[in-house]
Amino acid sequence: MPTALVTGASAGLGAEFARQLAGRGYHLVLVARDADRLSAAQNALPASVEVLPADLATDDGCAAVAARLGKGDVDLLVNNAGIGTYRPFGVADLALEERQLDLNVRAVLRLTHAAVRAMTDRGSGRILNVSSVAGFVPRGGNATYSASKAWVTMFSEALSIQLQGTGVTVTAVCPGFTHTEFHERAGADMSNVGGRMWLSADQVVRDGLADTLVGKPVSVPSRRYQALVAAARTLPRPVLRAVAARRGL
Ligand SMILES: NC(=O)c1ccc[n+]([C@@H]2O[C@H](COP(=O)([O-])OP(=O)(O)OC[C@H]3O[C@@H](n4cnc5c(N)ncnc54)[C@H](OP(=O)(O)O)[C@@H]3O)[C@@H](O)[C@H]2O)c1
Repeated sequence: MPTALVTGASAGLGAEFARQLAGRGYHLVLVARDADRLSAAQNALPASVEVLPADLATDDGCAAVAARLGKGDVDLLVNNAGIGTYRPFGVADLALEERQLDLNVRAVLRLTHAAVRAMTDRGSGRILNVSSVAGFVPRGGNATYSASKAWVTMFSEALSIQLQGTGVTVTAVCPGFTHTEFHERAGADMSNVGGRMWLSADQVVRDGLADTLVGKPVSVPSRRYQALVAAARTLPRPVLRAVAARRGL
């Protein structure tokens, strides 16, 4: 039975990753801070499930999960836990900005490091890093978040080149707006985002897993966001900044 370790598994995309991986016959190691929600998932999922409560914005939390990865039996690491602030830089507390970087960047770096060591020793494994379309677009009101996800995408793509021929692959999955608890937790007003821009967690996870399991370096779920990312990659930067500013992204 293959083993998958999923971070941020108590809600949103992480809970959906757990559900779909259970359906594919994986043994699951579920990580998040909320031990009660993890236990509820453990009881509800039709799978063999370990829970590992940890705060990945802390050194100790990262070390505990890295140690679990170091056992060497994890076939798929899903680095999914992440937060956004949706507050202009300078308005949000510096501590919150730093926590965002600790979770969105530093934890991904540390867990990927542990997984790469264990997986390359074994000659097989897959790493799925949940990034965002926000990493392709300079978003004025969410600068740290955009930058953190640009890091995740570039890190994953660059690492995928280094790992060619090792049996280990890395994929950055870049969703657009997706119905989860993410925006509510950030206290963000999303009323200006039209219904057609929203994706379901089911679709994001299905597309992201399919691309990860064939070792694609960058995955953008849905045609609509693939078109948006293609435009963001080709538009002159001043035009992209003007569009982002006008649309209040
Ligand atoms: N929803 C979107 O529109 C969207 C779009 C693009 C990318 N994403 C990315 O998708 C990923 C998942 O987000 P989501 O939309 O599923 O959000 P969500 O519904 O708010 O879930 C976030 C998950 O992360 C966990 N988490 C938060 N802080 C943590 C910490 N310090 N340590 C460990 N776990 C922590 C939460 O569990 P606990 O509170 O129990 O710790 C929860 O399980 C994130 O990386 C996000 O940036 C989301």
